[in-house]
Amino acid sequence: MEPTAKDTSRIIPVAAGIELHPVTQGDAGEMYPLIEANRQRLREWLPWLDTNYSMHEMRQYLLEREWENHNGSSFTACIRASGQLCGAISLHTIDPRHRNSSIGYWLAAGFQGLGIMTQACRVVVTEAFDTYKLHRVEIRCATGNARSIAIPRRLGFSDEGLLREAEWLYDHWVDLHVFAMLEHEWHPLETLPKEPHTAGLVDPDQRA
Ligand SMILES: CC(C)(COP(=O)(O)OP(=O)(O)OC[C@H]1O[C@@H](n2cnc3c(N)ncnc32)[C@H](O)[C@@H]1OP(=O)(O)O)[C@@H](O)C(=O)NCCC(=O)NCCS
Repeated sequence: MEPTAKDTSRIIPVAAGIELHPVTQGDAGEMYPLIEANRQRLREWLPWLDTNYSMHEMRQYLLEREWENHNGSSFTACIRASGQLCGAISLHTIDPRHRNSSIGYWLAAGFQGLGIMTQACRVVVTEAFDTYKLHRVEIRCATGNARSIAIPRRLGFSDEGLLREAEWLYDHWVDLHVFAMLEHEWHPLETLPKEPHTAGLVDPDQRA
C-alpha cells in the first residue's frame, strides 16, 4: 500500500469545543512556548525534550510532520480547546506493508483530567482504520506512566505485554507496555464516554 496525498487543512472535530488541527510549520510560534512552559513535566515521560530543543528545531520538526501529513506517511495534529492549543497527538510513521502504526500524545498541564486525550485518541484510532486503512494501532506507555496507560485501557486496547528497557529517558531505561487495537476489534461508539464526563470539557479559560 503506497501512502496517498491527504487533505492537510481538514479540521477533525473531537467533542464540544475540542478539535484536531493537522500541524503546520506556522504552529511553532504557539507550540514552542507551550512546550517550554511544560518542559519539566513532559520530560518525565517524553524522550525528545533535551535542553537543546530550540525554536529552530521545532520549526524543522513541524515542517517534516506537515509534509508527512500531506503524503500520508504519518499524521500529527495540534489539539485545540476553544481554539487554544493544549497539546498534540500523532499517528507515528505508518508501515504501509503491514498496515500498522503507533500513537503518541501530550497535553499541557491545565488541560489534564478532562478526557481531552482519551477523546482525541478515540478519533485518531478511527482515522487510522477508516482513512489510513490500517490493520493495527499500538500505544506504548512506560510502566509508571499511569495517566498514559489509562488511555488505551479506557479505549479497550489489549495489553499485549512488556518490552523491557525499550526506551532511553535521558539517564535511565524504562520498560514499555504495548497496547494494541486491531481494525476488526474497534467499536468506537462503545467507548464513547458517558454524558457527565463530556460535561467536564470546560472552557480552558476557566481553568487554573
Ligand atoms: C498522558 C496524558 C496526555 C494523559 O492526560 P489525561 O488528562 O490524564 O488524559 P485524558 O485527557 O484522557 O483525561 C482523563 C481524565 O479525565 C476524566 N474524564 C473526564 N471527562 C472524560 C471523558 N469525556 N472521556 C474520558 N475521560 C474523561 C477521566 O476520568 C480521567 O480522570 P482522572 O485524571 O481523574 O483519572 C498527560 O498526562 C500527559 O501529557 N503526560 C505527559 C506526556 C506523556 O506522558 N505522554 C504519553 C507518553 S506514552
